[in-house]
Order: sequence, then C-alpha cells, then structure tokens
Amino acid sequence: MLTLTIGWLCAINTSCPFKIFTRKSQMIRCDVKIKLNVRGSILMSVGTSFRDVMVKRYDKGALIAIGCNQWGDTGKGAIVDRFMFIADICVRAGGADNCGHTNESNGVKYVTHMIPSGIIFDSQGKVSIIARGVAFNPLTARLELEKFAETGVTSKNLKISFRAKLILPHHILLDMLSESRVNKVAKIGTTGRGVGPVFQDHVARTGLTVMDLLNPENMRTKLRRILRDKIAFLKTIDRDLVIQILQHDRLENGLFYHPEHILDVDAIVKRYYEHGEFFRRNICDAEAYLRSRLGEDTIVFEGAQGALLDIDEGSYPFVTSSRCTIAGLAQGAGLSENDITEALCTVKAYVTRVGEGSFPTEIGGYNAVNEYRELISLNIVSGSLLEQMNSDKEVVQGGAIGMMGNEVGATTGRPRRVGWLDLPALRRAIQINGPKIVITKLDVLTGIKNLPICVSYCYEGPDNPAIPLVYGQEIDVMIPEDEILKYCRPIYEHMDGWEEDITGIRSLHDLPDNARNYLNVIEEYADAEIVMIGVGPDREQTFFA
Ligand code: GDP
Ligand code: IMO
Ligand code: MG
Repeated sequence: MLTLTIGWLCAINTSCPFKIFTRKSQMIRCDVKIKLNVRGSILMSVGTSFRDVMVKRYDKGALIAIGCNQWGDTGKGAIVDRFMFIADICVRAGGADNCGHTNESNGVKYVTHMIPSGIIFDSQGKVSIIARGVAFNPLTARLELEKFAETGVTSKNLKISFRAKLILPHHILLDMLSESRVNKVAKIGTTGRGVGPVFQDHVARTGLTVMDLLNPENMRTKLRRILRDKIAFLKTIDRDLVIQILQHDRLENGLFYHPEHILDVDAIVKRYYEHGEFFRRNICDAEAYLRSRLGEDTIVFEGAQGALLDIDEGSYPFVTSSRCTIAGLAQGAGLSENDITEALCTVKAYVTRVGEGSFPTEIGGYNAVNEYRELISLNIVSGSLLEQMNSDKEVVQGGAIGMMGNEVGATTGRPRRVGWLDLPALRRAIQINGPKIVITKLDVLTGIKNLPICVSYCYEGPDNPAIPLVYGQEIDVMIPEDEILKYCRPIYEHMDGWEEDITGIRSLHDLPDNARNYLNVIEEYADAEIVMIGVGPDREQTFFA
C-alpha cells in the first residue's frame, strides 16, 4: 500500500505491490509513507509492515502482557492497541478508573479509564474483559461506553467479572477527603477515584463486588454494615467540607447526601442497582471464560499504572493501592505469571510522574511545571520550544520537555512532572517484570543537544542500618522506598542528542546514530531487551526493534 498524506486533511491511497527483504531475510510486505509531520517537514519512510511482523512473531494462542516499568503513563494503552491487530481478547486486570490510557489512529484519539482499550474492536467480535483484579466504577464505565457509542463503538462483547471490586460513593468521598485534609508532606496526590479506600475494604474483607450490583437486598445489608463506622467518622469532620465533596460530579452532585446520616444508603442502592441493570448482560464469571479460551485465543493483558506505583514493589508510600506488576496483572485475571508467553513493559525515553513522592531525576524540581507555565504566561521565557528544551535553566528545560511530550494526566488533567531517564529505576523494574521493554516517546527528545542519563544514585542520607546504607554509598538499583529515595542524588552520564525528525521512521536502522546509541545504552546498562520503539502517538508510529 502506498500512502501519500499531505497536511491533516487530504490523503491519497494507491495500491503498490512492494516487497523487501528484512534483516532476517524474510520477504514481507512493506508500507511506503510520505507524510507532512507536525514539525512541518515532509517525511518518507519505508518500513516492514508492523502487522506482518506481529503475525510472524506471535503464535495464535499467545498471552501477551503489557505492563509499565516506570510511574505509569508510558503508553501502555497505545501498545495494547497495536496488539489488537492479532488479539482476540483484551483484558484489564488491575487498577481502577485512576488509569488514563490513550490511543491514537489517524488523528482520532480515544482515552479509556475503566473500559479495556480493546473495546474499539468490539464490532469485529473481539472480547474485552474487566477481570476481578480491577476496582470497578460503574458510573465511569457507563459514561465511557456512552461516549464510545456516540462514535459507533459497540460493547456487545464486554465481560465484567462478578468478582471485580466495587467502587462505592464512600470510597470516593473518603479518598477526596483525606487528600484535602492532609498537609503536603502526608499527601499522596491520588487521582481522587476512591482507589485507596476500595482496596482497604477489600483487604478488610468487607468490600462489595460487582455481583452485589444485581442483588439490591444484599447490597443494602452489606452497605449498612460497612458504613456504620465510616459514618461515625464522617460525623466528626467539618460538615461543609463533606457536603462540598459530595457535590462533586464524580459523586453525582449530591445525590448520595443525607442530612442526618451523611450518606443515604437507599439512594446508593437505587442508583447502583440501576448500574447493575445497565451491565446485567455483561456481568459473568469472566475468569472462567478466560480460562476456557486459553490456548485457543490470542489474549492481550492491559496493565494499569506501573511497577514503581505497585503497592508492594513501588516507591512506597507514594504508590497506588493495587498490584501493577506483570505478576499482579496475571493474578488479577485469575492466572499465573507462568501462563504469560510474552511480558512487555513500556518505558518512556525520559520519565514522568504524577502526584507526590521523590523523583531523583526530576528536571527543575517539584514545582518546575508550574514555574515554567508562569514564566511563559508572563512572557519571561522566549524562544522556540526546541530552544527552551536546551535551556540551561532546568525549570524551563523540564517544562518545555513536558510541553513537547504533551505531559498532562489523561485522568486528572494534572501536569506530569518530568525527569531524565533513570537506569537504577529501570533496573529495579526489570528485576520485577523481566527484560523485554518497549521504548515510547523517543521522538520527544529530538533536538535536545545533551541528553543526561542517570546511571546510578549517590545516597546522601543518614546511615540506614536496615538495608544497610551509609552516607555517600553508590546505588545501582533503585530501593523503592521514599525514605531512601528522597536522599538519592542522580549520577549522570551525558550523551549527544540527535537533530533529525524521527517521527516518520519505521525501523531501528533508519534512526540517527545518536538515537541508536541512546537505545544501546539502555539495553547495555540496564540489561534490557528493546522489543519495540514508539516515535509518535499514532498507531502507525510504532515498530519492532
Ligand atoms: P498509559 O497510561 O501508559 O496508557 O499512557 P497515557 O495514555 O496516559 O500517556 C501516554 C501518552 O503518550 C498518550 O498521550 C499517548 O498518545 C502518547 N504516546 C504513546 N506513545 C508515544 C510515542 O511514541 N510518542 C509520542 N510523542 N507520544 C506517544
Ligand atoms: P495509568 O494506568 C500515573 C498515581 C497518582 C498518585 C498515586 C496514587 O494511566 O498509567 P490513586 O488514585 O491510585 O490512589 O493514586 O498513583 N497514579 C497514576 N500515575 N498513571 C496512572 O495510571 C496512575 N494511577 C494512579 O497520581 O500519585
Ligand atoms: Mg495514563
């Protein structure tokens, strides 16, 4: 296929029988693409067909898990989308609507929070599963499906595990309340979706599950029991603050407020039963279905968050409340990690983080993005974005990289904090998730002349006998505890950057030498195996290494 794309609006496609030999001497179809890109230059690229490589690489029946080896937002959703070419089933098995996963194809952008990214292939008969590891917010899911329906996306093949944890109004209220009351030091910077409280109820063995949506009497009894202590606590809190939070649209603008009991159990049961009716045909034993398809269907598992946000493995306590590793992903779907045939974890070519917590390689400090925005609004910073990305003022440099990478949270709209690539963090994540990684957003670094890579940390805190650690000790592998991390100073090696636009490139060999060097350093210094590379947000802008 020959695709000629000029500007945003006009595209001419013509058929072109075009064959090439790859480095493995396989004859496969290839795409020729001429495209006017965002930086304004005309690109031409000749690459092997991504789909063909994928079909050759993965056997029918493969189980492919897409995790993340950083603090989330590394493009998991986009990579899951690429795998939907070959997958029959897409499974979300962790997290909640704290996720924000973005897919782009030909300028059309989909963001999913609760629904698996594979839903956009529903009309092709592909199945989407929300497995029991997920904390399910039925309101978010309904709103998302309604929005999808407007664009013609169906949900006939959506299956929701009856065992998925149920997010209820008190979870959201307690989460938002705790974030609004604590001082900055104790704040986690959560997404305010009720994730901590829902998992607290789960481990306390008092939580409700999706099954309860279909049984209002059960729901009422369980809710009354679970809310007794919580309402006693809520009565000790400033009532105006509680009412103000309950007015939030996430809590349906006061629908659940009760003047005497604060939370109106009857209103909750009524509304959640309505949700149950809406999802009645989707609720099932999704794990049993999944097991019945093993060996038959190709299955892609869509991870949530990232290894460094995992409740056990992440940079505690600034983590989420669920499992975000490949093992956690398999478990959340009722399977074993050994069932997974290929575990791939996305790694941004730099690092971002949303919320609180130490970030050793952060560029310009915690307030960099806000300071940068202020400087821009006051016209104090001038020059092009590329010039700013090379600024010797870190606040400007970090802010500009965030701007170039469009680093704004897909769930909360918060600006993401930006930092240089952190190899000690990657080494730790690889110990947990395995060596295979997908480098995303390499294109964002284009034009930065000097690229620091953090190769180790110097620990500059008090001696810590528990590990043990002494002041001045070098650390090669991140110790993901904020108590330690906050004293870790990054040690950098510096690499030359590249100037060439890479957004149209579709093969490793076509990348500029310095971009390839950058990737080589990641592979060699972190014992990683780069499987895929992303050079833009679009479906077409990913290729196998
Ligand atoms: P997720 O939470 O891991 O699925 O990631 P998000 O969707 O929250 O954030 C990743 C962002 O980067 C999205 O806006 C994607 O469209 C975008 N993206 C993914 N891969 C690439 C890439 O290779 N280059 C660029 N420029 N953007 C990318
Ligand atoms: P995806 O799947 C990035 C962060 C929050 C906060 C911490 C705890 O899109 O990569 P929570 O609401 O879970 O209790 O918040 O975890 N966090 C994420 N950061 N990407 C995410 O998801 C995240 N989900 C939660 O910012 O610091
Ligand atoms: Mg995200």
